[in-house]
Amino acid sequence: MLQHLEKLKEEKKSRMERAGDWFVNTLNPSLESNCNTSFNFEIGCGHGHWLTSYAIKKPRENFVGIDLISKRIEKANSKVEKRNLSNVCFYKAEANEFLEFCDFELSNTFIMYPDPWPKKRHFKRRLIQFPFLELVAKKTLLGGKLYFMTDHNEYFLWSRTMVSDSKYWELTEEKWPHEEISYFQNMLPSNQFFCASRV
Ligand SMILES: C[S@@+](CC[C@H](N)C(=O)[O-])C[C@H]1O[C@@H](n2cnc3c(N)ncnc32)[C@H](O)[C@@H]1O
Repeated sequence: MLQHLEKLKEEKKSRMERAGDWFVNTLNPSLESNCNTSFNFEIGCGHGHWLTSYAIKKPRENFVGIDLISKRIEKANSKVEKRNLSNVCFYKAEANEFLEFCDFELSNTFIMYPDPWPKKRHFKRRLIQFPFLELVAKKTLLGGKLYFMTDHNEYFLWSRTMVSDSKYWELTEEKWPHEEISYFQNMLPSNQFFCASRV
């Protein structure tokens, strides 16, 4: 048991070092080239289709997409290379851990079609939880936004209720800021979304 815990600790340390290298060698130069200190952040970006098109529309802003799955990040990064974009980058990471490691500030965060984990015994695996909302909030500029979209009504209500109960966020009436359709939105076009402002 102790050995297993030691191994997990070592693995986390090595992910933290890898992320540190990526912040220094990839994210920081990208922010500096645009004179930015914060970035727009997509959690669960899949193949990066939506974020890449948003970055093309807003060349003066910076964008970071993360996903748990390496192949998706490889595909997303190949879009960036093909289009020769310097304001968007993708990185393989888990959301809570990435936020824990990251010292840069977030301007806005986007979560589109997160896994709903519909069974009650799996609710604890849902991304939207109070500690997560606090962690994102602490990295977000005051007035920065959290945008959330899903096709799953029960997860929508769960998330909106948690956000409205969180002292760090205030629900606001905002339009979805970039209308390009994500991969999952294409398959599941009926959705609900909310936006909250960092207070
Ligand atoms: C249902 S897909 C949606 C992909 C994309 N947002 C879209 O709308 O097409 C959910 C994505 O979130 C990623 N994901 C799930 N949990 C995550 C986490 N904790 N951190 C980062 N990515 C996560 C999955 O690997 C998957 O690619």
